[in-house]
Amino acid sequence: MKLHGTMKINASGHLEIGGCDTTELAERFETPLYVLDEAHFRQNCRNYYRAFTEKHDGIVIYAGKTLLTLAVCHMVAQEGLGLDVVSGGELHTARKACFPMEKVYFHGNNKSAKELQMALDYKVGRFMVDNQYELKLLGRLARESGVTADIILRLTPGVEAHTHEYIKTGQVDSKFGIVIENGQALETVQLALSTEGVRLRGFHCHIGSQIFELESYSHAADVMMRFAAAVHRETGWAPDELNLGGGLGIYYAHGDEPQPVEHYADTAIQAVRSIAAQYGLPAPRLMVEPGRSISGPAGSTLYTVGAVKDIPGIRKYVAVDGGMGDNPRPAMYQSRYEALLANRASEEPQETVSIAGRCCESGDMLIWDIKLPSPQPGDILAVSATGAYNYSMSMNYNRLPRPAMVLVKEGHADIIVARETYDDLLRNDQVPARLQEKQKVVKLAR
Ligand code: LLP
Repeated sequence: MKLHGTMKINASGHLEIGGCDTTELAERFETPLYVLDEAHFRQNCRNYYRAFTEKHDGIVIYAGKTLLTLAVCHMVAQEGLGLDVVSGGELHTARKACFPMEKVYFHGNNKSAKELQMALDYKVGRFMVDNQYELKLLGRLARESGVTADIILRLTPGVEAHTHEYIKTGQVDSKFGIVIENGQALETVQLALSTEGVRLRGFHCHIGSQIFELESYSHAADVMMRFAAAVHRETGWAPDELNLGGGLGIYYAHGDEPQPVEHYADTAIQAVRSIAAQYGLPAPRLMVEPGRSISGPAGSTLYTVGAVKDIPGIRKYVAVDGGMGDNPRPAMYQSRYEALLANRASEEPQETVSIAGRCCESGDMLIWDIKLPSPQPGDILAVSATGAYNYSMSMNYNRLPRPAMVLVKEGHADIIVARETYDDLLRNDQVPARLQEKQKVVKLAR
């Protein structure tokens, strides 16, 4: 397993993260356990801040959908980044963490009137408007509230990033955004410019996730700026903001070759500036919305090995105490992960096994065919790069409580999400009065 961030193997042969022995973390906080490496998370934020903001006056907006908790909001705010939220729940989290609302960007392809009103009341920085229905609804709500909402239109540039089929969002046939090539985008710009209650600031696109080809961003910038030039010719209005979304890929397993953030920044900014100059437009302020490349490599998950089932000549299944409930990605996208035995981290891997989750679902396999030093019940398995789209996509299937999350730094470990209890699972359950009548004893006929 590649060692990410502050990970190292200590003198006892145990995996250490943030100066904490992971076997001690497992003992103290139990498993499954999400471990977030604070120094690594912050470093990833800083890399973006330096490459985009300090160097090019760009704006970096952390995509909260990858991992959002109150503590995460605090770190993101302290690192000077903005926050992309996509729901009332994420917005509420940001609000409760006192995240500066002017740095909040409200996304989503079907925001409800209630959510839009909430965001207007909180005075979020930008509404990322996805469609004409939302544009009209937001305009009306803003007028009724006597305010003007700053908006950015989400467009579909038709650029396909080379990545997993399920997570492409930039192609023309997409539920997200407004299509440029068939004229709907221009029509929506005209509508936005004439809608009272909204102020159009710029355009947005998101061409996919887990992207390794930086040219995809230049290509997207080209399509977006070409469109901006057409809009300028048609209306005399030009965008002062261009948001190229998120998507930079990370290392999960062998074969993944992430691009450095500086290259990403330089490629994107150069494309925007040169194309703007070509069309005689002022270069808009560049915005990006990275999620996975900030939170992903900073997170790991610890599990305890339970049943080990050998089917001779076929496969050895090593079952752990979590699985698709805390990490649905392998089951949903066939995502690959790396792992090691945290309590035997310096032992040589000798056998190929497959890591099974504990859900009643044969697709609940975390890792197929991984070489480990013969796992035994009680061993601690650490899976790396689980910081993005794990906790945020976790679920209670089989009534499994969600794991706790600890933030580790320089030997300190603090709970930032408490482990769910069985009673938490019942918190919203209600039994109608008529079911609570004295239960009749039904005698079974023998
Ligand atoms: N901005 C927008 C508008 C997005 O839709 C996304 C991700 C991002 C930014 C952040 O992209 P990132 O930098 O994290 O790639 N659940 C899937 C990924 C879905 C991507 C959703 N949009 C997965 O686990 O791979």
